Amino acid sequence: MDTTDTTAAVLGAGTAKPRELVEAALIEFFASRTEQVAELGDRYVTAVRELTEFVLRGGKRVRPAFAWTAWLGAGGDSTSDGAASIVRACSALELVQACALIHDDIIDASVTRRGFPTVHVAFADRHRSANWSGSSERFGESAAILLGDLALCWADDMLRESGIDAAAAARVSPVWSAMRTEVLGGQLLDIEAEAGLDESIDAAMRVNRYKTAAYTVERPLQIGAVLADAAPDLTAAYRSFGTDIGLAFQLRDDLLGVFGDPGVTGKPSGDDIREGKRTVLMAVGMKLADRDSPVSARTLRSTLGTIDLSEDRIADVRSILCDVGAVADVERRIEDLTDRALETLAESATEPGAAAQLRAMAIAATQRTY
Ligand code: IPE
Ligand code: MG
Ligand code: MG
Repeated sequence: MDTTDTTAAVLGAGTAKPRELVEAALIEFFASRTEQVAELGDRYVTAVRELTEFVLRGGKRVRPAFAWTAWLGAGGDSTSDGAASIVRACSALELVQACALIHDDIIDASVTRRGFPTVHVAFADRHRSANWSGSSERFGESAAILLGDLALCWADDMLRESGIDAAAAARVSPVWSAMRTEVLGGQLLDIEAEAGLDESIDAAMRVNRYKTAAYTVERPLQIGAVLADAAPDLTAAYRSFGTDIGLAFQLRDDLLGVFGDPGVTGKPSGDDIREGKRTVLMAVGMKLADRDSPVSARTLRSTLGTIDLSEDRIADVRSILCDVGAVADVERRIEDLTDRALETLAESATEPGAAAQLRAMAIAATQRTY
């Protein structure tokens, strides 16, 4: 397939969903790098193929879809000449996400992602089966660090080469920078909380605000808005809607991390407990258990962060979280945040077609099972 202008072709057909547009733009971008990668030889080609496959074989494409839909909602026209450039700029978010996930899986020692071995595990396996010298684990992590870095650099390249005009690029730049600073800060706060520095609900909420809400919804929407040169009121409404939906999205993720079906989420259920993730769900659970059931509180604290937990002990944690009312509490938070977000959206000047899509995306993100 000629991939030099895939994005414009897919867009021109007029029927593509945001997800298909994003994938076309990513394919086009990867193709633009093939020659340069090949110059370094077969080994680099093979490693980069791993990154390409990681990016292309799955993912909800939530961030680019929010950015693109926000652009439409702020008056962007998908049939206009500049639309393919906007798709490319929005799709670059998916490469930031590739970096975030590849590195996050090293940080969290996760073995599965999107139903496949994580990148560091895949490289460690390759090292082991080829009988190369040195530690397979260390090799796997080193390769994954580098491919994550490459993804982040390519995200910047993809944005810069998207074809958006200079004025739009200047408007996007500070938002893009803020988003990167926030997500890395959120990740840092997350590991510090995990290290036991803070088990409060507030601390968990702050992590969610930066690790997820800003990065997943608020900033992508703002990127779409500034690309369209939206009025300040609309941008502000998007950001408020995005923060609320982003927080609700993470709270849903917290529930899925404990109660999700691995066949659907692509991640083992109970991993958040083994890993000791300080989620709002856990923080609420510990607070309620401290008040009502000290024995349960002890169980929660002793299981959290224990790597070799049996399924039975995970099941105990699940029952405690239900019994002390933590699950109901988190469900209520999701509902309140979603209601407030949808109200903000309804009162905003978002173009009606895009507003309906954003509404559906918000509901899908907060009520998902995957
Ligand atoms: C995901 O963080 C990493 C980022 C996108 C910043 P988590 O560690 O909370 O999420 P999962 O459960 O591994 O996907
Ligand atoms: Mg993780
Ligand atoms: Mg993490």
